[in-house]
Amino acid sequence: MKDNWDDQQFATDWDETSAVKNPNRLALLELLTAIVSDNYVEGKYILDLGCGSGLVEQQILEKLPNAKFVGVDASDIMLAKSKERISEDQLITIKHNLEQIDTLSIPPAEYQIAFTSFALHEISSESKRKVFKFIYDNLSPNGFYILVDRFKIDAQNLNIGYSSQWKHTLHPEWKGNLSFADYTSKMSVKDDSPDTLEDQLAWLRQLGFKADCLQLQLDRALIFAIK
Ligand SMILES: C[S@@+](CC[C@H](N)C(=O)[O-])C[C@H]1O[C@@H](n2cnc3c(N)ncnc32)[C@H](O)[C@@H]1O
Repeated sequence: MKDNWDDQQFATDWDETSAVKNPNRLALLELLTAIVSDNYVEGKYILDLGCGSGLVEQQILEKLPNAKFVGVDASDIMLAKSKERISEDQLITIKHNLEQIDTLSIPPAEYQIAFTSFALHEISSESKRKVFKFIYDNLSPNGFYILVDRFKIDAQNLNIGYSSQWKHTLHPEWKGNLSFADYTSKMSVKDDSPDTLEDQLAWLRQLGFKADCLQLQLDRALIFAIK
């Protein structure tokens, strides 16, 4: 079943609970925020594709109160929540479907940084590649892109390794009462399209990015890519 970002209850629950409680998401976003806040040049723009309710912007603004963002998302509900969080002079929002990135038009500006946070697993491989190209084409020279997401893993063939990782190293709040087998079956009914880490690194490098994975736990990771 697809996550329904046009459903008020689903979007509100995610915004108020899942997003703010998952320790793995928080650790990845802590690194994203650190890289952005160490390197952002005031006056330039940060592009967030799949910006949702503005939670990541809020976290970055705590470190960089003058940062400016352009955020794109397909959900009116999530965009409305982002507007409650962040003022319009700091976050320009655009409603657009990332599966149709060819028709996305963003305000002319110097985009020093781009990121996508837990959004691209919802779009096809072909669309991801187009999103990467869009980002590459719109970033200024030496600009960088951070991809934080859930990736496709080979849970079947590598099951015994992942099971031990799940059992012994993952944060209890992430696992809840689930076993690794429960988790994989829960993920398998999600109608989404995570791709492997290797494929996404290769696609970014083919465009000309220098790219690597800076943090990985189970199926969640952060890729850093510089133009
Ligand atoms: C898990 S939320 C993440 C929101 C935000 N990036 C964050 O990390 O807090 C996923 C977001 O991706 C958006 N999204 C999913 N598919 C999309 C698409 N095809 N085009 C644009 N936005 C999409 C959803 O509306 C939702 O806001």
